Amino acid sequence: MSIQSLIIDCDPGVDDAVALFLAFAAPELELLAVCTVGGNVPAHLTQRNARIVRQIAGREDVPVYGGAERPLKRPPAGAGDFHGPEGLGDLEPFEPTGIIGDGPAANAIVDLVMKRPAGSVAVAVLGPMTNLALAMKRERRLADHLGPVVVMGGARSEGGNITASAEFNIWADPDAAAVVFASGCDVIAFGLDATHQVRATEPRIRALQALRSEPARATAALLRFSQRVEREANGAEAPPLHDPCPIAWLLKPELFSLKPCRIEVETASELTRGHTAVEFRVDPATARHRWATTADGQGVFDLLTDTLKPA
Ligand code: RIB
Ligand code: CA
Repeated sequence: MSIQSLIIDCDPGVDDAVALFLAFAAPELELLAVCTVGGNVPAHLTQRNARIVRQIAGREDVPVYGGAERPLKRPPAGAGDFHGPEGLGDLEPFEPTGIIGDGPAANAIVDLVMKRPAGSVAVAVLGPMTNLALAMKRERRLADHLGPVVVMGGARSEGGNITASAEFNIWADPDAAAVVFASGCDVIAFGLDATHQVRATEPRIRALQALRSEPARATAALLRFSQRVEREANGAEAPPLHDPCPIAWLLKPELFSLKPCRIEVETASELTRGHTAVEFRVDPATARHRWATTADGQGVFDLLTDTLKPA
């Protein structure tokens, strides 16, 4: 089995928490750190929530670093409607025992990546891209030293989920996303075109509920919350599961189809702020970006269920 060193940067957040449970349980991943950012809920809650998930997963060997409290230029965003005021749906939050790492997330990203061989550390960004953009500004060599940057973010054919034309993570900090997409690092973007094909249906939630492990029980409870929100907000039955998609790709890339592209972000217009212009007319040999066009929803849930199954 090949082991991928990985840093996860996230804003837990219900689906971020599911992505973390998947990553914490996957033997193929050497999780170097979890970094948090303000996004779905404020930064002090995303940091606490990451430590709560870490404790439930029994992975207090993985450091958690708190990161940016606000975007590079815009006021703090928020998506509490979809994640609950505490950010973990209706899971009862508690004060976690595990410590918070010293220093800001951006410094941790620079230190962890730059001291390892070029291309050996992947970064998964599951929230606004502020921490990674700050890290790139702090260390100009970072973009060239990074392994794959797998991102949950972006809107193309499906349209947006926070505005007509933008997906939340990119909309929340479009300036940071523009920095990352323009940096020259290899980005694989899992936008709504792919994540809307990965839905938490009743049978899939029940399969997780049937497992006798704390992470599986918590994951099922988180998905039940999203199911209720989806019914109330959209009158639909099965909520999309966004943030586990980049992690699933690292573990089983065959679950997704990718297309070479060039991704640019709207930062000038308030009307289309955060829109991702995904241009497929590129030279595949030199394109640095790839866009996920299809996802095997059942395959992602089978991976999640198999990984969370108690040993
Ligand atoms: O648009 C979906 C993204 O926004 C996910 O990362 C979710 O956690 C929210 O942050
Ligand atoms: Ca997120």
